[in-house]
Amino acid sequence: MDLLREVVVLLHIVGFAATFGAWVSESVARRFRMTRVMDYGLLLSLITGLALAAPWPAGVELDYTKLGIKLVVLVILGGVIGMGSSQQRRSGEPAPRPLFYAVGVLSLLNAGIAVIW
Ligand code: HEM
Repeated sequence: MDLLREVVVLLHIVGFAATFGAWVSESVARRFRMTRVMDYGLLLSLITGLALAAPWPAGVELDYTKLGIKLVVLVILGGVIGMGSSQQRRSGEPAPRPLFYAVGVLSLLNAGIAVIW
């Protein structure tokens, strides 16, 4: 069970890597677009995060204030990616820059909360 939890944490980190990695590559390429990889990464972070929020195996201690804040940040992040995607689809232009930058900040914020809190 410990190994299974560790594998789920690994998949959870892969979700972060996908969302943040897609954001970094869009930034470096100066395209500034929301991409499907960001969506998939966030979905993976959500599913694995919720699985990790259950107290298993027995004896695992969880900080539900921290997890609640991470869930709120993830929901806001999903909203930001959704708004940016629909605006870029409508206009054909890159996502509005403040929304694009918010994706990087919120994604890194959640990883920071996970590691530093
Ligand atoms: C964008 C969203 C998220 C990102 C970037 C993220 C990032 C991370 C990272 C990097 C870790 C590994 C930290 C470590 O093991 O030291 C982690 C662990 C964890 N995350 Fe997330 N996370 C996100 C959302 C969530 C959500 C929504 C939940 C649950 C409601 C959650 C629950 C957990 C749990 C239970 C762990 C295991 C370690 C711990 O108890 O802190 N995460 N997260």
